[in-house]
Amino acid sequence: MNRIPREAYVDQDWFDQEQSALFANSWAFVGVRSDFADAGDYHAVQQGRFPIVVIRLTDGSLAAYHNICRHRGTVLLEGTGNTGKAIICPYHRWTYDIGGKFRCAPNMSSCFSDLDRSAMALKSASVGIFNNLIFVNSDPEADFQNWIAPITDKAWPHDLNAEDVKEAAPLLYDMKCGWKVFVENAIDGYHLSYLHENTLGGPKPDENIWERHGDQLIWYALDEAGLRHSMPAKSRKEFSDYWTKQIAATKDKEFGGVYYLFPNILITATPYTFSISWLEPVSTGCCHLHVRHWTGPGQNRNDRKHIPGFDPKTGIISSGNWTKPALESGDFQTEDVWICEKNQRGLESPAYDHGPLAEGPGAEDPILWFHDALVKAMA
Ligand code: FES
Ligand SMILES: [Fe+2]
Repeated sequence: MNRIPREAYVDQDWFDQEQSALFANSWAFVGVRSDFADAGDYHAVQQGRFPIVVIRLTDGSLAAYHNICRHRGTVLLEGTGNTGKAIICPYHRWTYDIGGKFRCAPNMSSCFSDLDRSAMALKSASVGIFNNLIFVNSDPEADFQNWIAPITDKAWPHDLNAEDVKEAAPLLYDMKCGWKVFVENAIDGYHLSYLHENTLGGPKPDENIWERHGDQLIWYALDEAGLRHSMPAKSRKEFSDYWTKQIAATKDKEFGGVYYLFPNILITATPYTFSISWLEPVSTGCCHLHVRHWTGPGQNRNDRKHIPGFDPKTGIISSGNWTKPALESGDFQTEDVWICEKNQRGLESPAYDHGPLAEGPGAEDPILWFHDALVKAMA
């Protein structure tokens, strides 16, 4: 298996190639089923170069389109909302129904006397649903089952609609590292005992394991008996001491603590919480991490002001707002952001050469698997 070269982390050409080739056929997280309660409810997302929108139709199903006007390409819908029965382009008011069909344009008879209306429908994209999570792919022929199948029989048992599960305020991290640096850190089992000594406190490389399932990975912590758990021993103890109530659906189930869905989605599942994070590449050296998370019974859900670097005015979390050193934050995510930003700065140096990776599925093998999948996907 080959590692990606230094250029992959720092070169604009590589970044451009990812944006148009990798993200032309990869699944992005859009939202959850309950976000789409009524016909016309939509979520617009950007996957690489592709603005995409998912809309609920009148029959309750979801459709995905390239979110660009067939006239001169203006992006149609932004963020989330309800578009009613029609999608109207703000530029010259070309109008589409929510099924994507072209309906009309102003001054049709004088300006577009021989327009082939059937050729002006919004271009289709693909939508996939798994466990109430909704994913989208800009390729209308993309095969969702093929992508998600490797993890379906080992998936998390959480039901996001259950009485004892509530969504908390979403998070947005603005980070000075490329998205791949963050992925590599997330799937690196070698750093857990060292960088996170003050927080997660492990596990050591032989006390945890990443399993490779196709291009997807699932992480477990191992105990002395070799049994699998979804949290490191230290966090397990802290949670059970502090939050005695577990999410009911997770009781007596074995599931992974982290699911990495290639290329840029991470799911963290514990008996007490559930979160889905996705990385939005911004530039070679910057990315955004979006997080939606759900908590179990008895947890404070919306208190973001204690997150290091959180700016209440913008709602954005960034290292520029930290008021104390990352290693004193008591927050492992802050430790990860700190190290990823330092890693990116080092990779920017022309003096950088790859050092060896720590061997083993609980160490740095997953980084090689990620590179393998990435090289395949970009070929
Ligand atoms: S670009 Fe959309 S109507 Fe002209
Ligand atoms: Fe980490």
